[in-house]
Amino acid sequence: MTEPLIAVQHLGISFPNNQVFKDLDFNIEQGDFLTVIGENGVGKTTLIRALLGMIKPTAGQINYYPSKKAIKVGYVPQFRNLDQEYPLTIEDFVSLNLKGWRPWLSKAERQQVATALAVTNLKKIRQRPLGMVSGGEKQRAYLAQAIVQAPQLLILDESTASLDNEMKYELLNLVQNLNQTSNITVFFVTPDLPLAKQYAKHYLALKPGQQQFGALADMSVEQLKEVTNVNV
Ligand SMILES: Nc1ncnc2c1ncn2[C@@H]1O[C@H](COP(=O)(O)OP(=O)(O)O)[C@@H](O)[C@H]1O
Ligand SMILES: [Mg+2]
Repeated sequence: MTEPLIAVQHLGISFPNNQVFKDLDFNIEQGDFLTVIGENGVGKTTLIRALLGMIKPTAGQINYYPSKKAIKVGYVPQFRNLDQEYPLTIEDFVSLNLKGWRPWLSKAERQQVATALAVTNLKKIRQRPLGMVSGGEKQRAYLAQAIVQAPQLLILDESTASLDNEMKYELLNLVQNLNQTSNITVFFVTPDLPLAKQYAKHYLALKPGQQQFGALADMSVEQLKEVTNVNV
């Protein structure tokens, strides 16, 4: 049996006058590629915030194995407003997730940056200002920053929302590669059912007041549509 990295049991999350989750149960297994699918406003980002300990569950529990502190997390948030004036180069931006500022990084840290840039195909353009590169390159830089510390768990919140089809698949191929070669556990939030179906192993389908968790191999895109209300 696969070991859980995080086990969510009977989780409830409520805001004043708004119950987002009730009795939510699912596991994130070590090495899994889990997709969380559902419409806008159903609670996907709220669930991430609960997993990261940023909001307290109203009921139930989230258990981390071996412990909360032992799990290193890489996180690509849903929104980022970097305009053309953003001054940092891709390389500087990726280094921000390390302790020091780039000119003073240790040799080992420089190697970490080089590896993150290599696996995201950014080596050649590492000295370009991030504000000036394409949408797909920006997303790859966000991914590189999230993995620079070699996390066990990579959380992606709608990271493909602003990308065209080709760039979407390019990004997901990189993520799949990380999952398969480095055994990084992936928690991929998206409203894109065909994309979820193609890349993930397990799914958590969210619909107001309802949820379903299972193996994606058993589900068609049509069936996913039914359990999420999402229009493909
Ligand atoms: N801090 C908060 N206070 C009150 N309501 C919130 C807060 N954060 C999120 N919500 C509400 O919780 C619901 C889920 O939001 P969210 O998790 O952002 O959805 P999704 O990421 O699936 O689009 C929404 O109705 C949203 O308005
Ligand atoms: Mg969201």
